[in-house]
Amino acid sequence: MSLFKAAEKTEIPEGSMKVFNIEGKEVLIIHIEDTFYAIGAKCTHMGGDLSKGAISQKTIKCPRHGAIYDIATGKSLSGPRMGPLKLKTKDLVKYNIKIENENIFIEII
Ligand code: FES
Repeated sequence: MSLFKAAEKTEIPEGSMKVFNIEGKEVLIIHIEDTFYAIGAKCTHMGGDLSKGAISQKTIKCPRHGAIYDIATGKSLSGPRMGPLKLKTKDLVKYNIKIENENIFIEII
């Protein structure tokens, strides 16, 4: 496992999120309530772009079919809705973050 610099804190203001390509992995860094979180940027259902999703409290909702994930853990909280069907989907990858001075580092295993 290794730490890679992803960004400077000022690149992701409070209440925002941004995708970074780190060692070939698309990582979504989210800054809410004075804390930074890092999860996979693509929905595990059909690859929806979570950076265009809606954040509510500490969850993010996929813009495509509405799957909901926990931002802190990457766990799937609610599956996608497709017509009358409510499906299940896998958890997102959750990345460990280290903040050093003004820099954000992501641990890639
Ligand atoms: S692609 Fe995200 S819920 Fe379907």
